[in-house]
Amino acid sequence: MSCTIIVGGFFGDEGKGKVVAHVAYEDHPTIISRGGVGPNAGHTVTMGDKEYGVRMVPSGFVYPDARLFIGTGVLVDPRVLKHEVELLNVKDRTFVDYRCSVIEQQHIERDRSSEHLAKTIGSTGSGCGPANADRVMRVARQAKDFPELEPFLIDVPAEINAALDMGESVLLEGTQGFGISLYYGTYPFVTSKDTSASQIAADNGVGPTRIDDVIVVFKAYPTRVGEGPFSTEMTREVSDRLGIQEFGTVTHRQRRIGEWDGEMARYSAMINGCTQAAITGIDRVDPHCFGINDYDKLSRKALDFIEKAEEDIEAPVTLISTGPDVSHIIDIRDEQ
Ligand code: IMP
Ligand code: MG
Repeated sequence: MSCTIIVGGFFGDEGKGKVVAHVAYEDHPTIISRGGVGPNAGHTVTMGDKEYGVRMVPSGFVYPDARLFIGTGVLVDPRVLKHEVELLNVKDRTFVDYRCSVIEQQHIERDRSSEHLAKTIGSTGSGCGPANADRVMRVARQAKDFPELEPFLIDVPAEINAALDMGESVLLEGTQGFGISLYYGTYPFVTSKDTSASQIAADNGVGPTRIDDVIVVFKAYPTRVGEGPFSTEMTREVSDRLGIQEFGTVTHRQRRIGEWDGEMARYSAMINGCTQAAITGIDRVDPHCFGINDYDKLSRKALDFIEKAEEDIEAPVTLISTGPDVSHIIDIRDEQ
């Protein structure tokens, strides 16, 4: 009955994957489709004793009743896709738009051998920047040019718009985060495309008038991987003392960690057209909140944090993640 976009509000790795998984279990979408750059993204989804790091397949894969799409705007690495659909056993319900541009070995080599990309920008080395450059230069090859991708090919916008016409729910998941948007991020220390909600709609061929909700995911302690400005960054000593080290899903680099950035949250919420927000890692603000599912059980410290965040974002915080598992979440969307 609705089309919801979920995007990251800071520098990526806000826990979008987990929020997508939760919303899917609650809202029963028939399609979960991803936008964003490509396999430079890493989503970690923890379910029970299993932890999955996915780069191509939408992180909503944990919800078994949706078809999983990769939108037209996304770059596809056929090797990563093949590996993931087999590992996750989702081959029969994963589909790729036939116009997606494809990452080839030469793109990865160009990404890794470029002093500028690999060192100065600190790219993930997954070939995305050079592949998007080739796409703009109109020399990239498309998914339909690769026989091994043939079983996956569909017209993603046609399928999504038809589902919406039928009154079904569709989830569009973003990747990366607002701060590394090519347009709005800390250029040149950014990824090779816009990452805002409008881009995610465009990546999937869904017009702006069809979007009902934009959930922006913010992390209580934002993180950044790679180079570039990070105004609220804390020293390694401070983050170690707080016991909140993190490592990247794709590159395994240690993530830089910062304090909540209200100014950035406000600007990001504005450009994303945030209708409601999710805050992840509230158990880091107050460890007593770990695993809680009940809003009324949140501590004063956590509530103060959320109230301040709502002032910054200028939208209600309706999803509060209290731990890594999909079940560790408070959902008050109905109460809005
Ligand atoms: P690229 O997208 O691989 O070219 O990397 C450009 C910058 O974006 C680097 O600082 C990367 O660390 C960062 N980046 C790209 N994708 C992600 C992501 O999914 N999460 C966090 N950072 C990312
Ligand atoms: Mg990630």
